[in-house]
Amino acid sequence: MKPIFADNAAIEHATKLLQQGRLVAFPTETVYGLGADASNPEAIRQVFKVKNRPTNHPLIVHISGVEQLKDWAQKIPESAKILASAFWPGPLTLILNKKSDVPLEVTGGQNTIALRMPDHPVALALLNKFEGGIAAPSANIYCRISPTQASHVEDELGDSVDMILDGGACKIGVESTIIDLTGPIPKLLRPGLITKVEIEAVLGIEIISIDTIIEKTAITNRAPGMSPVHYAPVTPAALCEHDKLTAVLNNLRIQNKRVGLLSYQFNPPENRFMHMLCMPEQAESYGQILYSCLRELDSKNLDIILIEQTPVTDEWIAINDRIKKATSRFKAA
Ligand code: TXA
Ligand code: MG
Repeated sequence: MKPIFADNAAIEHATKLLQQGRLVAFPTETVYGLGADASNPEAIRQVFKVKNRPTNHPLIVHISGVEQLKDWAQKIPESAKILASAFWPGPLTLILNKKSDVPLEVTGGQNTIALRMPDHPVALALLNKFEGGIAAPSANIYCRISPTQASHVEDELGDSVDMILDGGACKIGVESTIIDLTGPIPKLLRPGLITKVEIEAVLGIEIISIDTIIEKTAITNRAPGMSPVHYAPVTPAALCEHDKLTAVLNNLRIQNKRVGLLSYQFNPPENRFMHMLCMPEQAESYGQILYSCLRELDSKNLDIILIEQTPVTDEWIAINDRIKKATSRFKAA
């Protein structure tokens, strides 16, 4: 399916397709989503089929404003309203108790639901025209890298999607922060551009983060996106510390391996066995192009992709999380 420039006519057509239970890929500020009418169980089943995603992995329902929360969630805590008014439209997904009439297909059988208002003019125009919730996981095959450009969706899903709205490259490039508000203390389930510290500042309380949850209770099954193998290129990918890169590259060269390198600050001499992409030093710019760079290296038929370790500071948490998942199956040395 060729992407179509998302003008008014295209958005109108996309709305009709959604109303008919068909699938429309659309841009958000984070990544492209594979959208379907969230109130249509048959359309939702099709999303899982196209993505090859296990049906117990819940989807995020995209809505056009905080007023829509009550259409999908019940027993909405004050914290949800505070966070929505601080960060929406934006890359923050709230987990709330679902209303009883929300199809269990959307929530993977759970009684909780993920909701977010995206900050992208195309996504918002589509939501406003459609006037309902649009369930949309990232528009990639299960466990692969999320698409950040319309052409990525075309390469990945081909004709199994009914329309791809092209709204350019996503400006954030990393999936939304997910926060669970169903318990007594909010839990950060997936790090994103909006950080734990920012959320705590708005709520005025400390929240629990994913690492603490995993260490203490290992509840990863509840939020399957937290599974350690996720967001991975097909080519084996490994994380490598700056100081070890020279030795690792020499070793791979001796073995005649074709290597891809996402370099952060490392500057080796170019050689014909290596495809190197130099990444930006700022976390936000790095995140914006991380997935498209991994896709580019993945298309070069390489033996291994090395990713140079990035700084371990707050603003890099979401990026380091995705890099860790992309490289969880292989070691560099
Ligand atoms: O930025 C984003 O969030 C993008 C764009 C398209 O909005 N969407 C996205 O969707 O990343 P997806 O399906 O790739 O990831 C959704 C994550 C999964 O990790 C899923 O487990 C979690 O949200 N999730 C959804 N509903 C949940 C629930 N009720 N409880 C816990 N986790 C939930
Ligand atoms: Mg995804």
